[in-house]
Amino acid sequence: MDGINDKVAVVTGASTGIGHAAALRFAEEGASVVAADVNVEDGEATAEEIEEMGGEATFVETDVSDWDDVQAMVDTAVDTYGGLDFAFNNAGIEGENEALGDQPLENWEQVIDVNLKGVFQSMKAEIPVMLDGGGGSIVNVSSIAGEVGFPQISPYVASKHGTIGLTKTAALEYSGEGIRVNVIAPGVIETPMVEASAEENETTQQAIAATPLGRLGKPEEIGDAAVWLCSDDATFVTGETFVIDGGYTS
Ligand code: NAI
Repeated sequence: MDGINDKVAVVTGASTGIGHAAALRFAEEGASVVAADVNVEDGEATAEEIEEMGGEATFVETDVSDWDDVQAMVDTAVDTYGGLDFAFNNAGIEGENEALGDQPLENWEQVIDVNLKGVFQSMKAEIPVMLDGGGGSIVNVSSIAGEVGFPQISPYVASKHGTIGLTKTAALEYSGEGIRVNVIAPGVIETPMVEASAEENETTQQAIAATPLGRLGKPEEIGDAAVWLCSDDATFVTGETFVIDGGYTS
């Protein structure tokens, strides 16, 4: 894909799953990658994997709900690679499965802090650096739970709906300054998040059964879309939500 080579990409939640796949795809297309995550062991492994395939990557231990961490993540891109062109704001947690009346208050706070405040803070830190460099492309990660409701995971659903609203607003605010902002809403993707909950989570099982393509999505299928959205093939695309769900919400 044109327009990715020699650029700099930050990927949050890069240790496993979708973020890991996206980090590899950005590197395969020639971008230098800042891989950010709370999971140090797997995050360092992501960076090593990229280096072993001849790419450039730096891991930064980052909790996206912590403003100082997020600023340090963006500073790493500038200090190590000279700027920031792309961001894939993907870090997220599902939280506990309970009907709203039984949801622990601390679960609401934790899920909103990581999934929604994390995306807000990431964009807040990334945008000024992209403006300094003359523009950029941001791809946030929502979910089909950002489009429709899902029982038992109200904080997650709220965070993912909010991510779409943040994306549209940032797209409007910075469209005149060379920054495109889009959001991907994946369906059920085969990652540790789903594997961890699939056994006991009826909602996940129902979602898999309701996917017309009859399978889980692959992390690489989301990574491909993220890289495409940053490429020269997508220069007229902003403020858009890309539902990639095997037909689930059709
Ligand atoms: P995952 O659990 O494999 O990856 C999430 C990554 O985020 C992990 O590496 C984790 O360590 C990291 N993370 C968690 N909290 C963090 C924090 N505070 N700061 C920095 N990193 C943190 O799960 P998956 O599936 O790859 O999820 C990636 C994104 O995709 C999430 O935002 C998730 O909500 C979203 N998504 C996933 C779907 C699926 O079916 N797997 C469906 C729809 C959306």
